[in-house]
Amino acid sequence: PTLSIKDNIIEASLPSGQSVTVHLYGATVTSWKTNGKEQLFVSEKAHLDGSKPIRGGIPLVFPVFGPPPQNHATSSLPQHGFARNSNWEFLGKSSSEAPGRDADQTDLTVKLDFGLSHSMLTDEFREAWPYEFGLVYSVTLTKDTLETALQVRNEGKQNFDFQTLMHTYLNIADISDIRIKNLESKTYVDKTLNATSHTESSPALAITQETDRVYQNLDPAVPIVVASAKDDQPLFSVTREALNDVVVWNPWIEKAKGMADFGPDEAYKNMICVEAGSVTGWQTLEAGEAWEGAQSIKSRL
Ligand code: BG6
Repeated sequence: PTLSIKDNIIEASLPSGQSVTVHLYGATVTSWKTNGKEQLFVSEKAHLDGSKPIRGGIPLVFPVFGPPPQNHATSSLPQHGFARNSNWEFLGKSSSEAPGRDADQTDLTVKLDFGLSHSMLTDEFREAWPYEFGLVYSVTLTKDTLETALQVRNEGKQNFDFQTLMHTYLNIADISDIRIKNLESKTYVDKTLNATSHTESSPALAITQETDRVYQNLDPAVPIVVASAKDDQPLFSVTREALNDVVVWNPWIEKAKGMADFGPDEAYKNMICVEAGSVTGWQTLEAGEAWEGAQSIKSRL
């Protein structure tokens, strides 16, 4: 695998042609290419200078999802916490061999590790969330998949509570052509309808309006599949570990226009966010303990 580091942007690629790009700002994955095709959506108006969380790719949500609740340890943090708007450090690259398609063949994989800890935060974030924590975020590129794993460590003496989520913007040709599968019969909270609770009735969810739903308590081993409506073939399939909630988000016409860093206006047709997370309730991490959550995205090549 080859590696390039320039202007706080890390790029790795495999001999088989796949590549991944990660900005140290937010440890945000901003590109994942397979067969020369971009798999992630990034807004043309995204800020890439560290002045705002990056609108696209895979921003990381930690330690709070959405607007922080009042009277909570996270109350003074911005929406979605501080991970996506902090400068991370690059901890290094490792590569390994995975069994290939043929028995006598192996495929190379490359893993990039990033770290963020209490002492690296801005004064403002450190004061707003005074816990001694350590995050290690691993981005692994294989021939067929992109895997992202987050390890959260409590390095202090006090317990802390957190939520986390991988806010993946998938790149799609046309929102009218996709269906989201394996959500049927699952409970979801609809954030566009005053956070009311519903049960999904559709085996293949079409996105036809603003959508902002938190599907809860899913089996992380069952993939969430984004399939083409034309041939029912999967475009993406997302499996998770310890991330039992999945947010499905598309801003649709008005919200897209209203976001200064979202563009062009019609780009809402070219993205669907399928966000693997642990956002229902809180994970409590005791002093000295660690927790890990992960997702693996497979794309139709
Ligand atoms: C989603 C939330 O995860 O992120 C939405 O469910 C939110 O409610 C969206 O609008 C984008 O958030 P932000 O802070 O990046 O504009």
